[in-house]
Amino acid sequence: MRSINIVNGKVWISSKFADAGISISNGMIQKIAKEYRLPDADVKFDARGKMVFPGFIDVHTHLRDAEYSYKEDFASGTSAAVAGGFTTVLDMPNTSPPITSVKALRNRIQTAKGRIYCDVGFYGTTNNPSIATELAEAGCIAFKAYLHKAIDSIIFDSEKIENLMVAAKKTRRLVCFHAEDPALINKNTRTAEEHLQAHPAKAEVSAIEQVIKIASKTQGKVHICHLSTREGLKLINEVRKLGTNISCEATPHHMLLNSAIIDELGGMAVVEPPLRPPADSAAILEGVSAGLIPIIATDHAPHALKEKGNQNPRPGFPQLETLAGLLFTLVNQERISVKRAIAAITENPASRFNLSRIGAMKEGFKANITILDPKKSWKIDSGTFYTKAKYSPFEGRSVRGKVFATIVGGELVYENGEIISKPKGDIVYGSEVRS
Ligand code: NCD
Ligand code: ZN
Repeated sequence: MRSINIVNGKVWISSKFADAGISISNGMIQKIAKEYRLPDADVKFDARGKMVFPGFIDVHTHLRDAEYSYKEDFASGTSAAVAGGFTTVLDMPNTSPPITSVKALRNRIQTAKGRIYCDVGFYGTTNNPSIATELAEAGCIAFKAYLHKAIDSIIFDSEKIENLMVAAKKTRRLVCFHAEDPALINKNTRTAEEHLQAHPAKAEVSAIEQVIKIASKTQGKVHICHLSTREGLKLINEVRKLGTNISCEATPHHMLLNSAIIDELGGMAVVEPPLRPPADSAAILEGVSAGLIPIIATDHAPHALKEKGNQNPRPGFPQLETLAGLLFTLVNQERISVKRAIAAITENPASRFNLSRIGAMKEGFKANITILDPKKSWKIDSGTFYTKAKYSPFEGRSVRGKVFATIVGGELVYENGEIISKPKGDIVYGSEVRS
């Protein structure tokens, strides 16, 4: 593997920019120092005018593959990831077949090997405590509980949630929730307009209340995925102050889009939880900028274009290639500080999901690095996407800040619009979660 020196960039070290050089060899950050003090390298990467960050981490990605390869596969999904500056993504288990057993997890890991351009960790989903223990031993990063609909006939009542939290605690894993109360959503919707009415805010709030109650009882460690309501955020903050071990994530679409766009975009804008009225999206954006929502995640959920029409649209859309531009636009507009924005896609996910040796620019850490041009203005154009899902609810939006290059394990994988290396990403195995 060629050694690389990154020079002339603004390097993000300990939450601020420094004029420093980085020396990379054997897949690791070997030295961070003034450039004249770096050892010689095979390649000199000139990052003049660019920002150099620890590689971005996405804790909520649907890479699909297997029977859903027509929507996305490991190669296309992780290509989209590196094009979006992500060096690690955590893959959701609602695949076909779903990741509900050790056998399924091992199969999925085997299928991913040699086909991924960035590092990938895997979730498992189960309501059975002994399977949860086995999944943890087999290396799943965290557990996902879909409260709103059965995945492979796995459903969660309060007792099952409690059992999973106890098992997760023993294996020191985080339990992540899709928080919508199935009793309060109407699953028989046909059109995009009906979808919003069918997924009311109170369904999210009720599910969060249920999770909080059980987490307080079990002292479990929990995470609420794609938070979308002002009320839900309020609840989470109240109990966190009282000692409940709870975190949450926001997606770009719940921060930046609201339900008004459904009229214009129809099925294209359908997602779960849905895009909500402006008061909710404003609260989510404020929550991120105030540091109350510590993690930003994409919920990259690609579907085939023909599945996104107005009749019975599949929920979700691609987001790996749009997040960095959208987020840096907010930074450029001074609506989020660079410190909060970067922490939300590097150190915060790394520490909450206990991902070791990534998420910060430190000697001895893995050389996962994202180089961004903060001044580059561009328009979101799904025609340029690497994901198979060539559409976006942000289509045509002008943004400022673009990923220029992505380094994974010391290898320059993406540069200036092109994937330039083979798929050499690593599987990320879960280890003990810090309390
Ligand atoms: C996700 C998907 O398509 O897998 N869809 C979505 O609307 N968010 C499922 C999910 O994360 O809930
Ligand atoms: Zn979800």
